[in-house]
Amino acid sequence: PAPAVGIDIGGTKIAGALVDSMGRITHREQLPTPGEETVDVLDTTAQMVTTLVAAAGGDVSGIGMACAGMVDGRAGRLWFSPNLPLRDLDVAAEIRQRTGHDVVLENDANAAAWGEYRFGAGIDCNDMLLATVGTGIGGGCIIDDRLLRGAFGIGGEIGHITIDPNGPRCGCGNDGCLEVYASGTALERYARELIASGEAKGAGLRHRCGGTPEALTGQDVTELARAGDEGAVALFAQLGARLGEGLASVCAVVDPAVVVIGGGVADTGALLIGPTTEAFAAHLIGRGHRPSPTIVVAALGNDAGLVGAAALARESTA
Ligand code: BGC
Ligand code: NA
Ligand code: ZN
Repeated sequence: PAPAVGIDIGGTKIAGALVDSMGRITHREQLPTPGEETVDVLDTTAQMVTTLVAAAGGDVSGIGMACAGMVDGRAGRLWFSPNLPLRDLDVAAEIRQRTGHDVVLENDANAAAWGEYRFGAGIDCNDMLLATVGTGIGGGCIIDDRLLRGAFGIGGEIGHITIDPNGPRCGCGNDGCLEVYASGTALERYARELIASGEAKGAGLRHRCGGTPEALTGQDVTELARAGDEGAVALFAQLGARLGEGLASVCAVVDPAVVVIGGGVADTGALLIGPTTEAFAAHLIGRGHRPSPTIVVAALGNDAGLVGAAALARESTA
């Protein structure tokens, strides 16, 4: 069968690939996400569709698009994206108009969950929760072998569970969402707070940012933590503690056998997963008297969204 196209529209990049029926990527493309204007994001995404269809020689078995934000895949509509300049958009129609192709739209974390369930860490289970940790926090729930979408497509938005109503403002407009405490963006804020505190363990971070804490990126923190910097490692522990706590709460509703952690920040081995697993075990309801879900890193890594989007498109046209 022909490959399917998978596209993942994220906060920093638009990634695209051709994916075969076994979930293997056979061709890749990547473009930076235009930051300001909606039309630019649509134009860039349309360009990606055209390039990938051409790379497949014009023959594809579906085009799937994963997008950060609250989307109704059935209607091809995006309602609202906390970290992208996208609101009230008929994405499928806009892309069809620009490329002549029909596309299947899905929330990025939902698509990643489907990718992991079909081809990755969730392959042998019926009930799975996936969390992506990047610019935002995404969630995807597989319940009884089905992807949870909900009435309006917003099911599984675990990043916007309120942790503290008096907490910092979230990109969604609410205050103190899980995303504000456990995303890559939170990691950067924690780093700036540590530097500002003047604590000794912030020395490595202070040095790294050369006096401008605002310029510090998640990548900087990650590199320092990988090199064993005490302060940076502590920030991952802080992040993991909040993530583990949040995921334990979500498990009170979803009851998965496996919790898969994906997204850019998860790509750090034990740095994040260690403290996450510890906090998760300490907060799981009924702990000690029940089976515990296992926590694993996404087997498809950052490709889970693309692979899942392609699979959803292939399955929807089959
Ligand atoms: C959005 C989700 C998305 C997640 C990861 C959140 O801010 O609300 O829809 O899945 O970020 O991109
Ligand atoms: Na989701
Ligand atoms: Zn929020």
